[in-house]
Amino acid sequence: MNKLTIDQVDLAGKRVFIRVDFNVPMTENGTIREETRITAAIPTIRRALEKGGRIILASHFGRPEGKVMPEYSLRPVAERLAQLLGQPVALAPDCVGPEVENLVNALQPGEVLLLENVRFHAGETKNSPQLADAFARLADVVVNDAFGAAHRAHASNVGIAQRVTPAVAGLLMADEINYFNRAVRQPQRPVAAILGGSKVSTKIAVIERLLAQVDQILIGGAMAFTFFKARGQAVGASLVEEEMLQVARNAEEQAKARGVQLLLPVDAVIAQSPNASETQTVAIDAIPDGWMGLDIGPATVKLFQEALQSAQTIVWNGPMGVFEKAAFARGTLALAECVANCQALSVAGGGDTDAALRQAGVADRISFISTGGGAFMELLEGKELPGISVLNDA
Ligand code: 3PG
Repeated sequence: MNKLTIDQVDLAGKRVFIRVDFNVPMTENGTIREETRITAAIPTIRRALEKGGRIILASHFGRPEGKVMPEYSLRPVAERLAQLLGQPVALAPDCVGPEVENLVNALQPGEVLLLENVRFHAGETKNSPQLADAFARLADVVVNDAFGAAHRAHASNVGIAQRVTPAVAGLLMADEINYFNRAVRQPQRPVAAILGGSKVSTKIAVIERLLAQVDQILIGGAMAFTFFKARGQAVGASLVEEEMLQVARNAEEQAKARGVQLLLPVDAVIAQSPNASETQTVAIDAIPDGWMGLDIGPATVKLFQEALQSAQTIVWNGPMGVFEKAAFARGTLALAECVANCQALSVAGGGDTDAALRQAGVADRISFISTGGGAFMELLEGKELPGISVLNDA
């Protein structure tokens, strides 16, 4: 994953096609709810401007499935980006075609044009050669900064990069690659992985992969209950994936065989439903019938905190409970504080983890928070991401 970056290529007077991931969450009123993905792309855009490039930005937004849908227009993003950059950002009426080519060719060094949502064309997600050719006509240099979409092989990230040289990583993409390498590929040991979320089935590929790479795995969230059930323990009405019981047993055996410490919660905050107002904190083997575990308890926070003290590297994906609800947020937020206080290199990823770290007010004390959801998970699973592989090697 050693790729050429924007700093290693000449951009003066060039049409610089920067693929960004502006797939930001919106409110019901059509305003931007969370703008990290826009702010995260700013350093690359500024660098390209400083280097005298003529800047063309391309992004997907939502899943309009090849149709032009006004609610998926990038207009709100263009307006916000102009404020953040302190200069005009024109929005093209489309992302390809003669009119867009004219706009691109008229761009002067230091000017920025945002193309309209690339997913208004069905060829985007199919990586259609025609659409990739049309994108390639807009570019002298391709810069990919869209780590969040790097697990997709689409026309505006992979197709265009197969047609235009140089195709290089932007600063955000380079950071994502660099921190992932430092946290997972060549980490300082001991390495601790914190995994949470509700389902073993969505995390098992990550667990299996990490068992070969880390020294400790701390498991929280509802998926811990599948592990307890697999051990033959009663878990009340907690969420269990019956079809994953054997998989959980195998993971525990693997951990033993490899000398990886696999830690599960020792207590839980329980309720009769996620919406119930009455809660209790009980030992993990004392969950009554009809009650379910919805957060880790204080003894687990202490156990996990102690386990993290010796870690040189911490990787975190997934919340410890239903942290969107105040009654079940304490465990996740307390653990976020622990991780922020650790001296270790800390790398976190996934939408919920990102939201929890921000909610805890500790995001700036985490070494790196990935902008990827699915892309971060696929890297953790050990997969190659097509949006990265296609870029020119350093
Ligand atoms: C994301 O939000 O994870 C990326 O922008 C990718 O979006 P997608 O899952 O719609 O391809």
